[in-house]
Amino acid sequence: MNVSRRHLLKAALVSGAAVTFVPRSVLGGTAGTSPNEKVTLAGIGIGGIGNPQLKDARNAGFQVEALCDVDDVHAKKTYDEFPQARKYRDFRDLLASEGDRIDAVYCGTPDHTHAIITLAALRAKKHVCCVKPLTRTIEESRAVLKAVREAGTATQVTMEPHTSEWACRTMELIYAGAIGEIREIHIWSGRPVWPQGMVDHPKFSDPVPSTLDWDLWLGPAKKRPFAAQWPEDSPYLQMACACWGGRSVYHPFNFRGWTDFGTGSLGDMGCHRANLPYKMFDLKYPTRITASNTRMHPAAFPIGCMVTYDYPASEKFPEIRMVWYDGGLKPSVPKCMGNETFPAEGVLFVGTEGMMFHDRILDPERAKKFENVPKTIQRRGGVMPEWYEACRGGQPASANFEYSVPVTEFVLLGNLAVQTGKPVEFDPVSLTVKNNPEAEALIAQPYHNGWTL
Ligand SMILES: NC(=O)c1ccc[n+]([C@@H]2O[C@H](COP(=O)([O-])OP(=O)(O)OC[C@H]3O[C@@H](n4cnc5c(N)ncnc54)[C@H](O)[C@@H]3O)[C@@H](O)[C@H]2O)c1
Repeated sequence: MNVSRRHLLKAALVSGAAVTFVPRSVLGGTAGTSPNEKVTLAGIGIGGIGNPQLKDARNAGFQVEALCDVDDVHAKKTYDEFPQARKYRDFRDLLASEGDRIDAVYCGTPDHTHAIITLAALRAKKHVCCVKPLTRTIEESRAVLKAVREAGTATQVTMEPHTSEWACRTMELIYAGAIGEIREIHIWSGRPVWPQGMVDHPKFSDPVPSTLDWDLWLGPAKKRPFAAQWPEDSPYLQMACACWGGRSVYHPFNFRGWTDFGTGSLGDMGCHRANLPYKMFDLKYPTRITASNTRMHPAAFPIGCMVTYDYPASEKFPEIRMVWYDGGLKPSVPKCMGNETFPAEGVLFVGTEGMMFHDRILDPERAKKFENVPKTIQRRGGVMPEWYEACRGGQPASANFEYSVPVTEFVLLGNLAVQTGKPVEFDPVSLTVKNNPEAEALIAQPYHNGWTL
């Protein structure tokens, strides 16, 4: 469904004249390509998380029409899952050939190619769902914001929704005063489960398999040779607490640790963890960000870090401090939790009258007192059902791009403090960083190999 169809549908719904899709051909779309009333979808970057997320999209109602991946082997299980879908290697060919046959685009590639794919899809007036983090740099996130405002299409980022049962319950309890005024929020992740802390890129290289287009994988990143796997005895593999991506150097999965391609543990999990606090306290931009981390070499993110964000008071909420931990670091367990330990991933709210670990009020007496706080916040169906509803002209998805840019910039700003080792005082309007020119230089990074934003 293109934008004009969407507006027609919206008008029909408002007038009560229609409750289902009008066939595409009636509305001037490409006749015959969408005989049913589903929203047609193309998936780009489908070999990793793209596989389960495209299945979720199908379950939500999307019709998967076309697929694109630069690696035939990694993508095979998804090609097999959707045998009817037309296949592409280059997303530009997909967008050029599919034209009006697709309404929506899902992007599941590594972080360094989110922006080019998302921008191309928005400029083609497609609805877009991009995996988190929306972009790898702040310049990219602002370009995406401009493009989505121009396109006016339905968008979504795949971070853990603040519309789930536990997230809504947490908000209801905190808004009801369960732990007083919130002063601090601690969020953490057990990542990285891939190598980080590398001193430099490998000195070895490997032949590129015929099943992989390495140049397309690199996209706008600096050209460098393909390296397949770390040697079995590599210290980088031993240093990682787990290697979910196996021994791969870059592809698949282990791009995460490299500054040219990924955004580290903060980029991997920060949007998931920060989404609820951002929604709950209407957070936008911190005034100051400071980081403490293990040794940082320019090529790769460090093994562990702790990043502190200070937010100014708003009309509704007082000043708030949020602290991020990864690499096995966690906040200290409060005395009232006795011998309990924190799990690998978590969020702890510290208020003037107590603490909450996720939606659990730690003081049993206060927990009892707030048992019957009514449910007032709308629960929704999850990432893909929300996006499907938005594509059909309904309520916007909870992590639409307009909402998600500050959450994405939360992780990107934290990385500026980690990468430069200095405090960051960012001006979100002029995109400058007071007293930290090295951080300011990372806001916009060079695009290589002829690619532009
Ligand atoms: N819950 C979530 O929202 C969630 C979970 C996991 C990963 N992610 C995000 O998804 C992204 C991918 O992570 P992954 O673990 O699936 O990685 P992966 O390396 O396993 O998969 C990425 C896929 O994209 C393909 N690809 C790479 N460049 C491409 C290009 N230019 N065009 C088309 N295809 C291309 C690769 O061949 C591969 O199949 C990351 O940004 C990650 O942060 C999100």
